[in-house]
Amino acid sequence: MRPAIRYLAVGICLSLTWLVAPVQAENVDPAAVVFPGDRGPAKVNVSSYSKEIQASYKVFEAKCSKCHTPARAINVDKPAGEWKMCIKRMMLKPSANISKADGKAVYKFLTFWQGTKPKKNIQEPVLN
Ligand code: HEC
Repeated sequence: MRPAIRYLAVGICLSLTWLVAPVQAENVDPAAVVFPGDRGPAKVNVSSYSKEIQASYKVFEAKCSKCHTPARAINVDKPAGEWKMCIKRMMLKPSANISKADGKAVYKFLTFWQGTKPKKNIQEPVLN
């Protein structure tokens, strides 16, 4: 394939992904989709953790329970970089109302909790 044609093909593929992905994500009724984490506990007892973690948990509970329960994030593991992308993605959703500072607090809580939680909370993905 000639380079120009190859660039054109790649460009078309990328632009299709950007056009189609948001439409798919936003048209799904969040209440109708069950994610693996949704099946686990929706709360974390943070009373024995530092004040900083307790404060970041409060932000997490307030900001990440609007469209789905916090269980969706509490019961899944992701590498730190993927949490960052996931939280940014949530911040971009219509009327998410999550500030940059909120996002950082949520990131702090989720990465802390991931390294702390009992291993039995980790669930394998469930195919629906
Ligand atoms: C404005 C609504 C809304 C808010 C607020 C929201 N979410 Fe979501 N979330 C969704 C929707 C819709 C989906 C399913 C579609 C998708 O994955 O984009 C989802 C999916 C998820 C998933 C499963 C997909 C993945 O990337 O692993 C996780 C985890 C998650 N949200 C975490 C969070 C966290 C953490 C917060 C708080 C920072 C949050 N959500 C706030 C709407 C929201």
